[in-house]
Amino acid sequence: MIVLYGSQTGSAEEVAERIAREASRRNFGPEVPCKALDAYKREDLVAEKLVIFVVATTGDGDPPDNMRQFWRFLLRKGLPSDVLAQLQFVVFGCGDSSYAKYNVMARMLRNRLLQLGAKEIADRGFADDQSQHGLEGDLDAWLPLMWTQVLQHYPLPPDFVIDDAPRLFAPRNEKIRTVEARTTSENGRPDEKGDDANVDATWSAWATSAASRAPFGTYSAKPFEASLVCNDRITAADWEQDVRHIELAFEEELPYEAGDIAVVYPENEVDEVRLARLLQKMDLPRLDTILELDVAHVPRHVSMRHLLRRYLDVLGTPRRRFFEALMFFAGDEEEKEKCEELSSREGNDLFHAYCKKERKSYLEVLEEFASVKVPLEYLVDMIPLLQPREYSISSAPRAHGRKRLQLTVAMLAFVTPWGRNVQGVASRWWAGMAPQHRLLCQIKKGTLRLPEAPETPLILVGPGTGVAPMRALIHERQQENVHLYFGCRSKTKDDYYRDEWNAMLEAKKLGSVRTAYSRDDPRRKVYVQRLVRDDGAKIADLLLQQEGVLYISGSAKQMPTDVKEAVQDAIAASLGQEGLDADAAKVQASRVVQVLQRKNRFKIEAWS
Ligand SMILES: Cc1cc2nc3c(=O)[nH]c(=O)nc-3n(C[C@H](O)[C@H](O)[C@H](O)COP(=O)(O)OP(=O)(O)OC[C@H]3O[C@@H](n4cnc5c(N)ncnc54)[C@H](O)[C@@H]3O)c2cc1C
Ligand SMILES: Cc1cc2nc3c(=O)[nH]c(=O)nc-3n(C[C@H](O)[C@H](O)[C@H](O)COP(=O)(O)O)c2cc1C
Repeated sequence: MIVLYGSQTGSAEEVAERIAREASRRNFGPEVPCKALDAYKREDLVAEKLVIFVVATTGDGDPPDNMRQFWRFLLRKGLPSDVLAQLQFVVFGCGDSSYAKYNVMARMLRNRLLQLGAKEIADRGFADDQSQHGLEGDLDAWLPLMWTQVLQHYPLPPDFVIDDAPRLFAPRNEKIRTVEARTTSENGRPDEKGDDANVDATWSAWATSAASRAPFGTYSAKPFEASLVCNDRITAADWEQDVRHIELAFEEELPYEAGDIAVVYPENEVDEVRLARLLQKMDLPRLDTILELDVAHVPRHVSMRHLLRRYLDVLGTPRRRFFEALMFFAGDEEEKEKCEELSSREGNDLFHAYCKKERKSYLEVLEEFASVKVPLEYLVDMIPLLQPREYSISSAPRAHGRKRLQLTVAMLAFVTPWGRNVQGVASRWWAGMAPQHRLLCQIKKGTLRLPEAPETPLILVGPGTGVAPMRALIHERQQENVHLYFGCRSKTKDDYYRDEWNAMLEAKKLGSVRTAYSRDDPRRKVYVQRLVRDDGAKIADLLLQQEGVLYISGSAKQMPTDVKEAVQDAIAASLGQEGLDADAAKVQASRVVQVLQRKNRFKIEAWS
């Protein structure tokens, strides 16, 4: 058996690892392999006997980055319908039912495997971020059923006893050494030294060097070093939402196009006194100690400070598995029991309420469990790596050059059910960032592209920070056949870029801007989908008669679905005027939108 996963932010990967562990405890071999789909040799699939696939859905029903190649390979035309006839499989999907394309990758993968002759030997399972008991709860409910079905095909030996009791794993770094002084560089990675200026220099040199390119970050494009030019709040100072216009300067020209995405590596903004206290409590080396370790994506020699600030996701939220390991390091019996409960199926609701809903961080948990002392070798395995954040670039090469990037970033902040104020990790980092701060950034291809023909009309629907890629396209095109639909809460508080649009309208570099204000009239909340409906006839004409394109960007929840419906209704109304009856027009309109999507003339770039 092998477990293969496609995971964007780590949940599906964690599920896959759990399934592989449980498989080992069910006689499938001492170490059942568990790999990202794109790290797996695809050609081997035809010889595989049993594969459990765990896949998340990202974007607007898209595959995670680490399964894109595999998915493209599987979709190849001309594969014989029995090419996977020898393969038995099971599929588990990680998704969120508040998205229109709920768990669509798991569904499509399952259908494709069946089409290619593979046999499903256990019912597929879905985890839903929205479900009452969370992802872990859905998994807990599915796993026993799945094992019952799978073990009918692979019966256990007569006296075999399944032992799912918590166990402490062996750490990947057997011994982490502390290094007193600078040492010679190994594996092309530079070393860090105690003083921060030097460490910063070596860090960025390492990250941007050819040697580190492949292993740096989870996304493998070349990283560029940037310096912050401005970080201006563009919502009113007394307004509830803090949105920033951020500009970054680069020494090199960036290989980017309007519509691309910046992948940025944030740092954990944590009070050093707090970190120092935690290290002291756990008998760990002090912040300025240099460590020698072997962890993918981390320099071989790194200071404790930077390990905690740049590499480990100490402000992220623990998963249940974290508590399974933590119990082995609790000195106090009561805390040990609490960890055991939080890591168990029975304690899932408690875990959900204590950790997930409250957005508790690793740091807070390690502080709250006062008797816990985690050895460094385990800590680097128990806390996952800090993930980069993606931002749609809101500038364009034509207007702003290739040595500058602009971003439009909302500072994420919310209050938990128990009334705790929580800030997003990157949001907290951006919020306090001053000019000249240096950071690392990669460029990723976006889904929204300017059509080659300049006469193609553009309809751009980008409420909130969804306006970012639209601003890039507007500045690249600079023509009157571009029409923007923007949405915000208040005309006087967060109608950002208004002056810029007015200037462009005046200069005839933009065709029209319609803005939906959702809070200005308490009796009537207006959202972009309303404006798209109001302008239905114009939009249908631009799409059908003038061969225009329509792009949507921003919140991945309800907005894209509602806008799509509004467009379909507009097309149906237009077809109705040509004589089609209402029902036929509706069916035809939905087909038209499907065709537009296939031709890349209707696209969505969405995030949560
Ligand atoms: C392709 C793409 C383009 C993007 N473009 C932009 C852009 O142009 N501008 C922009 O501002 N952002 C953009 N984002 C989002 C951005 O990448 C980050 O997700 C965002 O900045 C938040 O990061 P953070 O580290 O501050 O929050 P994190 O620390 O990562 O926290 C985010 C998590 O907090 C939780 N959460 C959020 N709200 C709540 C709540 N109310 N209650 C409980 N939990 C909650 C959710 O689990 C969420 O996943 C984009 C994302 C993608 C994928
Ligand atoms: C930007 C973004 C887009 C998403 N799009 C979808 C989607 O289209 N359909 C869905 O079912 N879930 C969607 N989700 C939810 C994820 O699939 C879900 O959170 C999953 O547990 C993530 O697994 P991962 O951490 O392995 O990537 C999306 C989440 C994010 C952050």
